[in-house]
Amino acid sequence: MIGSVILIGPMGSGKSSAARSLASLLGHRFSDTDRLVVQRAGQRVSEIFDREGEAAFRQREREALLELKGWSRHVIATGGGIVETPENVETLRSMGCVVWLRASLEVLWRRVATDMNRPLLQVLDPRAALAQTVAKREPLYSAAAHVSVDTSGLTAQQVVTSVHELVVSFFLASRPPAA
Ligand code: S3P
Repeated sequence: MIGSVILIGPMGSGKSSAARSLASLLGHRFSDTDRLVVQRAGQRVSEIFDREGEAAFRQREREALLELKGWSRHVIATGGGIVETPENVETLRSMGCVVWLRASLEVLWRRVATDMNRPLLQVLDPRAALAQTVAKREPLYSAAAHVSVDTSGLTAQQVVTSVHELVVSFFLASRPPAA
């Protein structure tokens, strides 16, 4: 299998941990757009939002994605807002198999409620902000994804198994026929 696998989905959908496990299962390398942004900027995500604003973060995120585009055999976790930049959708789809990790609002909220590292949730009513963001982005995730997994009732291990099966089928189906 030569293409990369890119995990998209909202904050709290478990992209990073699923990507790490999937990378070791496939023998691919793991990467993360947020991590690359932080490395390149020398600042944490929250600092970039505070000092430079969301638009600058999105620009840095776009640059990180373009950098990762040059690498194959990676499993890449992305930030939840990567689909907000319209050009990213085509870029993501050109890189390999795009997997959308879905989860109910209850599950997402349980996972992010106590996390102070998500700038978009540092507002008076973070649960409403999460709900609004998820609703706004659903069509964007849908347009970007080749396959999707509803992770709500699944263990971390089950998520990885489901994603693995879907990804293998995707790459088998997109292989050119033998001459
Ligand atoms: C964001 C999600 C975060 C991070 C940044 C913005 C978003 O990543 O990129 O805080 O817009 O949803 P996670 O999805 O890993 O939390």
